[in-house]
Amino acid sequence: MTTTARAQGATVWLTGLPSAGKTTIARLLGDRLTGEGHRVEVLDGDEIRRFLSSGLGFSRADRNTNVQRIGLVSEVLARNGVLSLVPVIAPYADSRDAVRARHEKSGTPYLEVHVATPVEVCSERDVKGLYARQAAGDLTGLTGVDDPYEPPADAALVLRTQEQSPRESADAVYALLADRGLV
Ligand SMILES: Nc1ncnc2c1ncn2[C@@H]1O[C@H](COP(=O)(O)OP(=O)(O)O)[C@@H](O)[C@H]1O
Ligand SMILES: [Mg+2]
Repeated sequence: MTTTARAQGATVWLTGLPSAGKTTIARLLGDRLTGEGHRVEVLDGDEIRRFLSSGLGFSRADRNTNVQRIGLVSEVLARNGVLSLVPVIAPYADSRDAVRARHEKSGTPYLEVHVATPVEVCSERDVKGLYARQAAGDLTGLTGVDDPYEPPADAALVLRTQEQSPRESADAVYALLADRGLV
């Protein structure tokens, strides 16, 4: 365990369906890393849509723009020594690849974590009531139901949260960071 802050940052992108567990894992991991003296930011998709991406909708183009903006901010943070945790759906592989390429260009670590909770489990959790609203016909374009989700083919880690506690999932991401020498 490290007790002093290190200069090496990274982006950890948690991609997955709504209610997969992205925010929960990012917050738990963030608290642990902060407690250990690391500089940490959590760039949560829901919060960012209220400012950096306010005005954007959920079309393919707008979803991509949202992901590129967040990817830019995260790369800047990570390049400057922050562990940037990004719980954002990012449904399209080409959007995520562009963010990865931006990081590679500056030699900044980028780790993709697939929070691979099956849609049946997500719709049962339904933290924000989106699945119920879609089923009731009050909402269309829900990722994983009537909007695409392209699972990563090359994730650094795949989490099966339906078989783990939130703590276990967060610890698995921590272990990945440790394995890469980032904590
Ligand atoms: N292993 C796990 N990891 C993360 N969340 C889990 C896990 N097991 C159960 N959950 C629950 O699933 C829900 C996930 O909600 P949230 O983190 O808001 O999802 P997302 O940000 O992906 O939309 C929370 O209620 C959380 O307690
Ligand atoms: Mg969330």
